[in-house]
Amino acid sequence: MQQWDVIVVGAGAAGLMCAIEAGKRGRRVLVLDNGKRVGRKILMSGGGRCNFTNMYAGPENFLSQNKHFCKSALSRYTQWDFIALVQKHSIAYHEKSLGQLFCDDSAKDIVDMLLKEAKDANVQLALQQNITAVSFADGQYTVSTPELSQQCQSLVIASGGLSLPNLGATAFGFQLAEQFGLKVLPLRAALVPLTWQPADKAVFEEISGVSLPVTAEANGTVFPEDMLFTHRGLSGPAILQISSYWQPGEDVTVNMSPQTDITEFLAAQQQAHPEQELKTALAKLLPKRLVEKLIDIKAVNNQPLKTLHSKSMRQIADTLHSYVFKPNGTEGYRTAEVTIGGVDTDGLSSKTMEAKHQPGLYFIGEVVDVTGWLGGYNFQWAWASGWVAGQYC
Ligand code: FDA
Repeated sequence: MQQWDVIVVGAGAAGLMCAIEAGKRGRRVLVLDNGKRVGRKILMSGGGRCNFTNMYAGPENFLSQNKHFCKSALSRYTQWDFIALVQKHSIAYHEKSLGQLFCDDSAKDIVDMLLKEAKDANVQLALQQNITAVSFADGQYTVSTPELSQQCQSLVIASGGLSLPNLGATAFGFQLAEQFGLKVLPLRAALVPLTWQPADKAVFEEISGVSLPVTAEANGTVFPEDMLFTHRGLSGPAILQISSYWQPGEDVTVNMSPQTDITEFLAAQQQAHPEQELKTALAKLLPKRLVEKLIDIKAVNNQPLKTLHSKSMRQIADTLHSYVFKPNGTEGYRTAEVTIGGVDTDGLSSKTMEAKHQPGLYFIGEVVDVTGWLGGYNFQWAWASGWVAGQYC
């Protein structure tokens, strides 16, 4: 039986940050992970360049049943703290857009930085570990693998969500929470493409690859970003963002021309080019293949501009400013970036991330019911929640 002060389950963003902080406090820390490498999601994130934080991250960028829960951690370890760490390691980075910070070279720079910090803090790592049981007695947790049992005072669960099962995602953290009497809120894939109904697939798969700036709305939440038609459905940042707010059976309403009022645009085009066809005019605003498809399915009727009355201009504008899609689902955990739901924050201290009724048990990162928008927010939650737990565990 090996004895530790802290065992962290999960060598991802949250687990490594927590282990580093606890190690710096002189705690003897072991990190257990089921994979062959640490930080596998970090390595593949942001197209291999890791969108490691967002300059504008704040509590309003997160979904949770208790929207106040994330405030404490986010305010005590901010994006600027993480940026300072990145700068300390001389990692080159840039803002892509909307405050999203990416490595110039490779996401591996972030993993290497965390490994260097972990080494300096005397953190021990054990990879390819298959945890078979966890028990608690006399103030100590026993974590068993087929080879060994290890004991610790503080057990930190940083095993992430369910997305990308082929990358090692498991339900371990949720099951462990339930074992110790914590509630787990319903889980679903988020930041994920939406899939077509069969009838829409037949219509729209022909224009897969078409992308345009839109606003996408579901349940009263609106995101302005790009939308992409794919063979399977709708994707692109606007759709990934809205997928976190969309519920099965609901509509997604897309404004295909958020910058230009289509009624005014058509009136001006009619004056300037009365003989021109509607499809030629609309193709100045929207991708040509999309316009042709909309005419094909009679969402709008092609005709010379001079024959358009103001009422029909308004009808065309209404159609394009609020086009309704009814997805039949999402691509699920196979492609989702995150899992919504998870360990109910009611059972956790927002100051320490420790379970309120189970001393020494901590939950951090994506396993907790706090989910960020697309754009570096999920890593910021992982860093912040990991950092605060690392001060106490
Ligand atoms: P994370 O999933 O990173 O780590 C959990 C670790 O626990 C893993 O190493 C896993 O193998 C291990 N584990 C699981 N079960 C175990 C068990 N039973 N025993 C032992 N170990 C176990 N976010 C962002 O802010 N910017 C971005 O650019 C991206 N990009 C991105 C791309 C893709 C493709 C995905 C899938 C996700 C993103 N994300 C993102 C989201 C981000 O990766 C995610 O929110 C964080 O990695 C969550 O960090 P955690 O440490 O909580 O879990």
